[in-house]
Amino acid sequence: MKRPETYKTIDASDRHYFLSFLGDSQLLWEKEAMQEYGHDETEDYQFEPEIVLKPQSTEELSKILAYCHKQRIPVYSSGARTGLSGGALPIYGGLVLSMEKMNRILEIDERNLQATVEPGVINQVFHEACKEKGLFYPPDPSSWGSCTLGGNLALNAGGPKAVKYGVTNAYVLDLEVVLATGEIIRTGAKVLKNSTGYNLTQLMVGSEGTLGVITKVIFKLIPYPKENRLMLIPFASAEKACEAVSAIFQAGIVPSGMEFMERDAIDYTLNFVDEVNLPIGPEVGAHLLVEVDGNYGDQLMEDCMKIADIVANFEAGEVLFADSENEKAALWKLRRRVGEAVKSHSVYKEEDTVVPRAELATLLRGVKSIGAKYGFHSVCYGHAGDGNLHVNILKHKMNDKAWQEDLPKGIREIFQLVKQLGGTISGEHGIGLVQKDYLDIVFSPLEIALQKQIKQVFDPHQILNPGKLFPDN
Ligand code: LAC
Ligand code: ZN
Repeated sequence: MKRPETYKTIDASDRHYFLSFLGDSQLLWEKEAMQEYGHDETEDYQFEPEIVLKPQSTEELSKILAYCHKQRIPVYSSGARTGLSGGALPIYGGLVLSMEKMNRILEIDERNLQATVEPGVINQVFHEACKEKGLFYPPDPSSWGSCTLGGNLALNAGGPKAVKYGVTNAYVLDLEVVLATGEIIRTGAKVLKNSTGYNLTQLMVGSEGTLGVITKVIFKLIPYPKENRLMLIPFASAEKACEAVSAIFQAGIVPSGMEFMERDAIDYTLNFVDEVNLPIGPEVGAHLLVEVDGNYGDQLMEDCMKIADIVANFEAGEVLFADSENEKAALWKLRRRVGEAVKSHSVYKEEDTVVPRAELATLLRGVKSIGAKYGFHSVCYGHAGDGNLHVNILKHKMNDKAWQEDLPKGIREIFQLVKQLGGTISGEHGIGLVQKDYLDIVFSPLEIALQKQIKQVFDPHQILNPGKLFPDN
């Protein structure tokens, strides 16, 4: 990745300009801060920016972008840096635009079941604020305790609830966006239906900070379901667990969570998280964590019984029902921390594969046989109800040459299989830096060229998140 020479290096005159309208606490350029803002949760990547700015308003942000556009300064907008595809990494240095000070919930509109927020609000903080009013904002990535809504929008994030309630884009009604030039636009309206012109709202969602910077969001909310039931189901093999998933939906049940963890995933996490104790017999190869929710407990119990009957046909063991809120919290904690647990084990690469739900077992089989061919061990887990399998490839004892030269071929084979099964290469983590070289597997040259033309319209000087998304930039 070579920084294009057309970009300007930030110097004292640029800092002087920024300090003409920003306070001292809004500008960082000390070495330690550059290190801190130079990484996210992607592998062990580290790229230092030249400066970090923390705008507090749309107007400040607009001035920053207008200046960077004119001066050709690369701008990397950044939330809580919990991303897994390197989307927020300042790979050409330049300016990190940290949205952490734009973190206000501006309104929860109980009459219309809507909320207006700034992008720096932490996902779980928003979730709890809505819940207090009986309202539900469902997208809940595993990192919800720290990730921001702006980051969720950038990647169109999902999470366990997506299987019943959809991902981030299903809740976005309107955005305020600052364009690369510093101009400010609105994309939608405060309405639940909208057939007015091109859908720029949905173009922005998932665009990974390459088309503009979101400064305000209007979300749709729904009533908070009153009840839920959670069950942990052990299976003799990962494949049987995957096969059971589509059978449950085929029986007419839509769980509010349908998570898959293969044996290693749960073992690593039990070792990693002290507070949770769960004896697991040697015969267990994988688990499904299944939640149903709604307003009527009896109906949910009926669904659980039906699920228990179905999984019995797929070599399931004894189903564990979480009876208390504490037990539910412990099981969710276990699931949410799998990624961290795997990461603590070894250097690893994370692939965010997604296929039609009924192809999950075939995908898993394929991943394991590609692993055997290239000599890598993978730990798989994810949102089985969405066909979204996180494939974590561990470096363990692989030598550096195999890791750097052979593994990309193995990953390419995994993605080719995903494509063949009707899927794609990222379900919720985005393309960012680490997946961009595989984009040709899912898009033709024409399809990539069209996307680049859109980028050109929005960001003619290529200052927004350069070096991401497209293979050759
Ligand atoms: C999860 C994150 C890694 O599913 O997407 O835990
Ligand atoms: Zn996930």
